Amino acid sequence: MMMKNILHIVIFLVVAHSADGQALVSPSGQLKAHFALTDNGEPTYRLEFKGREVIKPSKLGLELTGNTQKVEFSAEGEQNNRQEVHSLYDQFKVVDLQRSAFDETWQPVWGETKDIRSHYNELALTLEQNHTARRLVIRFRLFDDGLGFRYEFPEQRNLTYLVINEEKTEFAMAGDHTAFWIPGDYDTQEYDYTESRLSEIRGLMQQAITPNASQTPFSPTGVQTALMLKTDDGLYINIHEAALINYACMHLNLDDTAFVFQSWLTPDANGTKGNLQTPATSPWRTIMVSDDARDILASNITLNLNEPSKIADPSWIKPTKYVGVWWEMITGKSEWSYTYELPSVHLGITDYGRVKPHGRHGATTDNVKRYIDFAAEHGFDGVLVEGWNVGWEDWFGNAKDYVFDFVTPYPDFDLTGIRDYAERKGVKMIMHHETSASVRNYERHLDTAYRFMKEHGYDAVKSGYVGDIIPRGEYHYSQWINNHYLYAVEKAAEYRIMVNAHEAVRPTGLSRTWPNLIATESARGTEYQAFGGSKANHVTVLPFTRLIGGPMDFTPGIFEMDISKLNPNNTSHVNATLANQLALYVTMYSPLQMAADLPEHYERFRDAFQFIKEVALDWDDSKYLEAEPGQYVTIARKGKDSGNWFVGNVSGEDGHISRIDFSFLDPGKTYTATVYADAVDAHYKTNPQAYIIRKIEVTSDSALEQKAAPGGGYAISIVEQTP
Ligand code: NOJ
Ligand code: CA
Repeated sequence: MMMKNILHIVIFLVVAHSADGQALVSPSGQLKAHFALTDNGEPTYRLEFKGREVIKPSKLGLELTGNTQKVEFSAEGEQNNRQEVHSLYDQFKVVDLQRSAFDETWQPVWGETKDIRSHYNELALTLEQNHTARRLVIRFRLFDDGLGFRYEFPEQRNLTYLVINEEKTEFAMAGDHTAFWIPGDYDTQEYDYTESRLSEIRGLMQQAITPNASQTPFSPTGVQTALMLKTDDGLYINIHEAALINYACMHLNLDDTAFVFQSWLTPDANGTKGNLQTPATSPWRTIMVSDDARDILASNITLNLNEPSKIADPSWIKPTKYVGVWWEMITGKSEWSYTYELPSVHLGITDYGRVKPHGRHGATTDNVKRYIDFAAEHGFDGVLVEGWNVGWEDWFGNAKDYVFDFVTPYPDFDLTGIRDYAERKGVKMIMHHETSASVRNYERHLDTAYRFMKEHGYDAVKSGYVGDIIPRGEYHYSQWINNHYLYAVEKAAEYRIMVNAHEAVRPTGLSRTWPNLIATESARGTEYQAFGGSKANHVTVLPFTRLIGGPMDFTPGIFEMDISKLNPNNTSHVNATLANQLALYVTMYSPLQMAADLPEHYERFRDAFQFIKEVALDWDDSKYLEAEPGQYVTIARKGKDSGNWFVGNVSGEDGHISRIDFSFLDPGKTYTATVYADAVDAHYKTNPQAYIIRKIEVTSDSALEQKAAPGGGYAISIVEQTP
């Protein structure tokens, strides 16, 4: 006891004398963070990379609001003076600091590499607010590729309940950088990226806000994370968050005169931005930085700032390659619904047996069997079927609470017949739960729906949250609904179910803790290629933005780019070459990969389809060969427990000429590389299906110059030759 007190006094004296603040250096010394208090007791930090300024002095803290528990002043003479103090960002002094170092290598259940190293130096500062005696810990972890920090609210007499008005974390940029951004929005991330100077965001915002089923942009300079930035002198900076748990999703709002971003949390329906009870922590705020863009792709900061897996036996979690009754609905070739005779549906009352089907229903028993046959023939693990269950006649846009029950099939979907057929063919059925954003309804049905899945042999579910959230007034990214998404994942783990959530909050590395969250959408996926198209360079930005938080169910593999061939009323064009679509299986890392196009299109291009069949889903190693956001990404990956390598390149509007070497291969071995590349005259707009397949022999000494067309790319499978 005595010792402890002495220790505290010593620390206090040390801290009290360090008016210049505290420095923290990364293990290799290339990053340096610095913490200081202003004269007004405001916490600040700054960050340097190899002596260059990444983050200028930036303030830290939170502003609380109305319902926050009143503090009881502890200073003498003010004992009974109860009063609300909303600032948790000034009047602080440092009362304790702890330093530590950490170096550990761990193995993910699935991932881009077999081993992940977490190596950082840590500084944790305990601050006490002078006039309230409230304590706040700010913990910094400095890795060689970036900084993570978070707020911790220890259990204490003067701070039990917090209602957040706004988090006041600043990220002060050192200049008018180039940013790859999407509009800040409480409800959707399904936007194309805009590349512009920070000073240009305001002028470009309006045109960047393209329509969506649910959207709430909040500011003319508001953007989302992960935000990718590039400085004029070639620094790559990425701002995101890790371990978003029981907290609102963070956006960034830019002061475009000073180039300072400030955190902007997603509110709950009542306008406040989060309710916490101490002890509590915020998510980690992350800033990755390097002078080489490839380091941003290779960084594991997001995963390293999440807790280890909570699933003791993960043997049931399986990387999955699947096909599905899906693209035909997205393109409008067929429909999710069953009939046009019902203008609306009342579940439990509407009798589907008495209505005339419109004949365009996609999820019919025969059609599903066709996909099962195709999956079985080509070695796919699963078949997703959307539109199998009743309720799609008026499924969104009406703020309707009870839309789906997740257990009642349409009359033309023979649930048990399909189940038995799939089982005989060795194919797993993948469940679809469109919630139509009626979260309340989904939670009501969740146990029943998961139990129903297990009874019918389904181990994975694609969930979706299209439309405005119910309860009405809630947003897609608030604390309230983030808790729902995690609840659904944790409950799924109890049932040994893998989850792929669409329209949910973007990931923040939580799949380390819950590896049954095998993918989420939370960005503009392939579906938009059938809704008018996406920018050709979209897939060269996503690895630097959306994928920083975790894998995406991007649903690549489109071979027919002219959508009017599927549906004469849909004139969309897929802005990609066929070779580009193959490369996505390597560049868009995910343990869940769909071959999204129709079986008949794969039959037409069987030689190219071979790559999709062969490509691995889980990896022992990944090498980031070339990368420039918005222009090109080239990655080589080694399949788990196989000696085979796969290379993918995707390129933007200008195309790209790669110069890569194969030094990643084992020395002394000879491999056959099958190169699936754009033909010389390929172009995503005018000639997307022009590709050439060639075989070459390679060793670790080989080099390759390979051209990618505008909106194109190439894919290579590399197999060791047997002597
Ligand atoms: C949007 C999802 O992103 C898409 O994949 C799905 O088909 C529709 N919602 C219907 O659930
Ligand atoms: Ca979507």
